Amino acid sequence: RRAIIIDTDPSPDDAVTFLMALGSPDEIDLLAITTVGGNVPLHYTTRNALMALELVNRTDVPVYKGAEGPLMVPLETAEHVHGRTGFDGYDLPEPKATAAAGFAPEKIVELVMSRPKGTVTLACLAPLTNIALAMLLEPKLAGHLREIVLMGGARTEGGNITPAAEYNIYADPEAAWRVMNSGVPVVMIPLDCTHKALTTTPRMNALRAYPQPHIEPFYHLLIANKAYNARQDGTDGGPLHDPTVVAYILRPEIFAGRHVNVEIALQAPTRGMTVVDWRSVTGKPANALYLPDIDADAYYALVWERLAAAYRP
Ligand code: BDR
Ligand code: CA
Repeated sequence: RRAIIIDTDPSPDDAVTFLMALGSPDEIDLLAITTVGGNVPLHYTTRNALMALELVNRTDVPVYKGAEGPLMVPLETAEHVHGRTGFDGYDLPEPKATAAAGFAPEKIVELVMSRPKGTVTLACLAPLTNIALAMLLEPKLAGHLREIVLMGGARTEGGNITPAAEYNIYADPEAAWRVMNSGVPVVMIPLDCTHKALTTTPRMNALRAYPQPHIEPFYHLLIANKAYNARQDGTDGGPLHDPTVVAYILRPEIFAGRHVNVEIALQAPTRGMTVVDWRSVTGKPANALYLPDIDADAYYALVWERLAAAYRP
């Protein structure tokens, strides 16, 4: 069983990801969920995490609140994609559960350093602020991790928040820079990958066929989310970005890519861009496994199965 911590700014695709982890108890030991300001402010990301856990009766997993905003600049949220609360599209009850005591970056340090070296994976679905802060708090953290699997970046696909940058990297590029230069093994799943696996009508119908009571709310949340992409790109459905992270941990063989050097641009107009040395033209050492390819049908079969399995009566 892989011990993981999920760092997240829940919109629905984030929530699907940590529910998938809970639906995979034979493979994954989810130590904690840590929240950060991102798509929407920290207040909403934390509430959305708790709401999603309550839907499947899994509030036994601790949720720790982290940073409200990036290391160096004010937070730029993305309400135009995910709605005001990050969970627009279905009215869920306000959660009764509350966040656990403790600051997420400190809890990440505590949870990782109290376990044997090379055993804990960070699954990152949001701006990397909490991770960079944890690395600043404990310089030995990077060397103690097994790896970081993150959703973020873009090469051939271009950006989704600026022409050059993907949102999670753009929102806190200084944090991303720190993580990429920390020496920790990084697996990077970019827009190049997630834009190849869309929530098409047949895939959404397959989701709706599952009988568990949380599936109907998630169906509507994801339909609301995909409306944005359909408007933007004229596609049937949109990407389901973050679940690629847990899908990779469960089934790495459904992804393909290369070990490459990735630099993070810090200056406008490419601020937050991932500069991927796909052809090794710089000779700089690889610092990431960059994965632009995916078996989309295998991905959706896995995501829906594990999302459904998260439910506890
Ligand atoms: C990333 O930003 C958010 O919209 C998604 O949850 C994902 O983490 C995609 O750019
Ligand atoms: Ca996210």
